[in-house]
Amino acid sequence: MRILFLGDVMGRTGRDAVVAALPVLRRDLKIDVAVVNGENASHGFGLAPDMAEALFAAGADAITLGNHSWDRKEIIPYIAQQKRLIRPLNYPPGTPGEGVVDMTLADGRRVLVVQVMGRLFMDAMDCPFRAAEAVLARARLGVTHAAILVDFHGEATSEKMAFAHAFDGAVSAVLGTHTHCPTADCQVLPGGAAFMADVGMCGDYDSVIGMGKAPAIARFTRKMPGERLQPAEGEATICGALIETGVDGRALRIEPIRLGGRLARAMPSA
Ligand SMILES: [Fe+2]
Ligand SMILES: [Fe+2]
Repeated sequence: MRILFLGDVMGRTGRDAVVAALPVLRRDLKIDVAVVNGENASHGFGLAPDMAEALFAAGADAITLGNHSWDRKEIIPYIAQQKRLIRPLNYPPGTPGEGVVDMTLADGRRVLVVQVMGRLFMDAMDCPFRAAEAVLARARLGVTHAAILVDFHGEATSEKMAFAHAFDGAVSAVLGTHTHCPTADCQVLPGGAAFMADVGMCGDYDSVIGMGKAPAIARFTRKMPGERLQPAEGEATICGALIETGVDGRALRIEPIRLGGRLARAMPSA
């Protein structure tokens, strides 16, 4: 199975780039399933229902969120009826939405997509390891599901790496999101889980993690609340990864994708 995973879509420039590129990437890379992180699509803060619809229409099979899940309030009724939009699994019980989506592809293969959020330098959350363990107790890689993907939304590389090793053998891939910077550590772990500590954002990299530079710099230099952060609006680099899995659900390869904008190009061989 060929899986496309794109990182945090940042503002209008990120949305426009992803909506334009998704159909092309799906075709050129012969993608079976595409997952997109949409937590920053709405001006950097949250995701509005019409933006989610545009991403689905462009070819996203599932959309994940993160610490910005609820920044656009309209997403709360929407997430209740759109099961392919998920938020971190380890929110406290009673939080709207689900942290996992179980999808059946046209050919009958089942794909499970899970999102968890880290706890290092992040909001207080339930344990991502225990939350994932409970879900994975009901899903067996290569038996019940052809692929199991985890979006680990977190700040700390150590926590993401520890998580990936903890679930190596039980999942096809652990893909990091949230830092907005792609890491150069793509690998298939010994048990067959593809790992990348962060896939990066789909946004303008002439910025401070996607936000306009001057107000972002002022926050560090002045130590005073300043001007509201606005997304940088130059050409986006689309950042993500291609993961290819075998019949047992384990990853055969993971390769980075970086297209357009300022970052050095990376495009997997078809
Ligand atoms: Fe983000
Ligand atoms: Fe985030």
